[in-house]
Amino acid sequence: MCGIVGYIGSKSAENVLISGLRRLEYRGYDSCGIATIHDGKFAVSKTTKRIDDLESNLKEDVSTIGIGHTRWATHGAATIANAHPHVSNSEKFIVVHNGIIENYVALKELLKEKGFQFYSDTDTEVIPNLIEMNYDGDLLKAVKKTTDMLEGSFALGILDKDDSSTLVATRRNSPLIIGVGEGENFIASDFSAIVKYTNQIDILENDQFAVLKKDEVDFYDNDLKEYHLESQRVDISDEDIEKNGYSHYMLKEIHENTSTIKNTLDHYISGDQICFDLQLSEEELENIQQIHIVACGTATHAGLNGKNIIEKLARIPVNVVAASEFRYQNPILSPNDLVIFISQSGETADTIASIELVKERGVKFLSIVNVPNSTIDRMSENVLFTKAGPEIAVASTKAYVAQVCVLDLFAIFLADKLHRADRRFLQELLDELKNIHTKVEMVLEEDDQYLAYAKKIVGDKDIFYLGRGVDYYTAQEGSLKLKEISYIHSEAMQLGELKHGSIALMEKGIHTIVLCTEESLVGKVISNIKEIKARDAEVLLVSNLNITEEVYDDMIHLPAVNELLSPIVAVIPLQLIAYHVAVLKNLDVDKPRNLAKSVTVE
Ligand code: AGP
Repeated sequence: MCGIVGYIGSKSAENVLISGLRRLEYRGYDSCGIATIHDGKFAVSKTTKRIDDLESNLKEDVSTIGIGHTRWATHGAATIANAHPHVSNSEKFIVVHNGIIENYVALKELLKEKGFQFYSDTDTEVIPNLIEMNYDGDLLKAVKKTTDMLEGSFALGILDKDDSSTLVATRRNSPLIIGVGEGENFIASDFSAIVKYTNQIDILENDQFAVLKKDEVDFYDNDLKEYHLESQRVDISDEDIEKNGYSHYMLKEIHENTSTIKNTLDHYISGDQICFDLQLSEEELENIQQIHIVACGTATHAGLNGKNIIEKLARIPVNVVAASEFRYQNPILSPNDLVIFISQSGETADTIASIELVKERGVKFLSIVNVPNSTIDRMSENVLFTKAGPEIAVASTKAYVAQVCVLDLFAIFLADKLHRADRRFLQELLDELKNIHTKVEMVLEEDDQYLAYAKKIVGDKDIFYLGRGVDYYTAQEGSLKLKEISYIHSEAMQLGELKHGSIALMEKGIHTIVLCTEESLVGKVISNIKEIKARDAEVLLVSNLNITEEVYDDMIHLPAVNELLSPIVAVIPLQLIAYHVAVLKNLDVDKPRNLAKSVTVE
């Protein structure tokens, strides 16, 4: 999604804005621009290339106030005219916007009737012109009148060329934070853009306003009544955001799986106790009849793993559904249901909308989130944080593994609370989980194998990931990783279903990746592999089981772990295979085409 950064202070605004936009690159963009105020005029620079091009085009760095934007095209192609910032007709006001204005067509007609002209295809361009139309000498009032007219989502940074001491910001259902510095203040779509300058942030709620001056930030509610907001410190350092010597954020984050697992588990385990701070009574937990897990993309795959272990340990039925479906299917929910939302960013529009639906229904829910102070964090009474730290690469890796860990903990917690499994077994499982990062470390050390396999499949057009039971869920995650960063078509299939149609696709030259971590299914898996081989397709077997029959072409041996915990280990080679294929294809691994790190529009 789009990224916003704004600055007012004593430093070169150009330098701060460029630095901030670079940190937002991972969100994905197809154009970018900045605007500063100098000598009563806007200095605007835009490009449909990368931020390096924007920087090289900057004429001079002489301003101390400005706004910047990376655009992920929604309305109108990636052109200079459509790139932000957008200026009003009189060139008095300029705006950067993240979100979608759903009633922009009607607003555009209203403005045209008043003589305004438009030079872009964007929804955003109505905003500076509405501010101009509503302006009667007070910028904040004009902004308030404007946002009252807007339908949809927005995070806005606004400047008036005649007032270089003020930056105005507001938001509705699109992320925006306020950074508080010493003699300087910031706005940003997310913290990574400003962590270089400050760790103090304020969270703006929907339809509230911030007026930033060099030395202070004033906050106003939706009635323009001023109120005080205590800033909070965010414990993320600049180096957390940097690549630390890795060639890509994705590779760094795959290797951070071990520390992520450790940090996440240490956060919740004290001795042999799992400590969740949940506003759910013992009675409410005992009365849970059905669990719904709602998420998008990779987070959904984590949810599927949660389904597997919760059903096997706590014996509660779990329904996993994509948020983009859940929000429109008038879901069947009952007072004794529990809904679990999973979101790395905490800003995914479909997941947010699903939370709003569940809140309206009055059903209990908890959220598993990686970003503190994100929208979903702030919407949820019960939050279980994954402790993955900032995940910059668009393709989620360490956050996914952390989500699986939290769901494993939740399953053990529930089973223990509800006396649904043998307590000694649960303790042994928890002990194994506490040390699983050592098994992940062993897998990471075998990277040469994954690179060798990546070289084998790099030229493929179609690749199939197959598994039975929980391995099918991991296969889905492996398939998505490959698709989203290497652009090779890939599909995950239930191995047992192959003979009901998909086996027609098996032929010479086809590569398949078969996962097998469930002891009870080994015989079936071996038979399925033979069916694949009988059609001259090739098989890479990924397994932690002792399979003596060499029916496969290649094998990745995983360290032995309890099959309930195997998804944590089994996904690592798949993450690295996808990574190596994308690198071999010389693609933009961290910022794959068409994708954004946080899908804040539906
Ligand atoms: C992950 O590799 C993908 N980039 C994408 O599927 C992502 O998981 C999905 O958009 C959900 O994002 P969230 O976890 O931030 O809600």
